[in-house]
Amino acid sequence: MRKKIVAGNWKMNGTYEDGLKLASEVIHMVQDEVNSDVEVVLCTPFIHLSSVGKLTKEVPNVHLGAQNCSEYTSGAYTGEVSVQMLRSVHAEYVIIGHSERREYFNETNQQLAKKVAMALSAGLTPIFCCGEPLQVREAEQQYPYVTQQITESLFDLSEDDMKKVVIAYEPIWAIGTGRTASSQQAQEMHKVLRQHIANRYSEALAAEISILYGGSAKPDNAEELFACPDVDGGLIGGASLKSRDFLQVVKACK
Ligand code: G3P
Repeated sequence: MRKKIVAGNWKMNGTYEDGLKLASEVIHMVQDEVNSDVEVVLCTPFIHLSSVGKLTKEVPNVHLGAQNCSEYTSGAYTGEVSVQMLRSVHAEYVIIGHSERREYFNETNQQLAKKVAMALSAGLTPIFCCGEPLQVREAEQQYPYVTQQITESLFDLSEDDMKKVVIAYEPIWAIGTGRTASSQQAQEMHKVLRQHIANRYSEALAAEISILYGGSAKPDNAEELFACPDVDGGLIGGASLKSRDFLQVVKACK
C-alpha cells in the first residue's frame, strides 16, 4: 500500500524562532488531533533543520525534510549542503527539482538526476517535483512536457531505487497563485505519470509510488484533491506556514 504523505514546503520563510514555533505547534497538533497513518513532513530552510530535527525524531509520524541538496558529496562547493549533512540532522526527505529552483537557479533534468541519485545514496527519500508552465498547459502539451521531466531525471534508476522516490506534480501556474488545478486535472496528470512509470518499470512498481499534488492546495480544496485515486497527498506551500491551516490539510488526507 503506497504511503499517504502531506509535506509542508516552508520555502524561504521564517526566522529561527518562527521556525521552531511553527514546528512545535504542528507537531503537537498532529500528535493530539491526527489519527490517520498519513506521514507529515516538514521541509524547512536549512537553518531550521537541526532544531526541528531534534523535535521530529522524537515523534512517530512527523518527519524532517530539506528543500534542496547538493549533487556533490563534500568539499570546495561554497554555499552547498550535502546529503550527508542533511542525514546528520535527521532529515529523511529532500525536495528535488522544485520549479522555483529550476527557474531561478537553472536546474536541469540532468543535474536533478544527479541530485536524486545522491539523495538515494545517503538514504534520503527524494520528493521529485515536476510540472508545466501555463503556456504549455494552454498549448495542451502538459503530458509530454511533464513525462519528459520524469524520464530524464528518474528513468536511469534501478527498480529498487525508483520504488523509494516520491513524486510531486506541481503545475507551475497553480503555485502561489490561488489558481488550484481542478481535481480532474490533477487526477488526469497523476494517472498519466503512474502509467508512464508502469511502462518503464512495471504496474506493480507504479502502484507503490506516492504521487503528491502541489499548487495552491488549501484547507478548502484539499479534501476533493486528495480523494482522487491517484493523488496520494500534497506538497503544501503557503498553507504550511500557518499551523492550523496545515493541520486542516493534513486531516483532509485520509
Ligand atoms: O512546493 C509546494 C509549493 O510549490 C506550492 O505552493 O503556496 O501554491 O501551496 P503553494
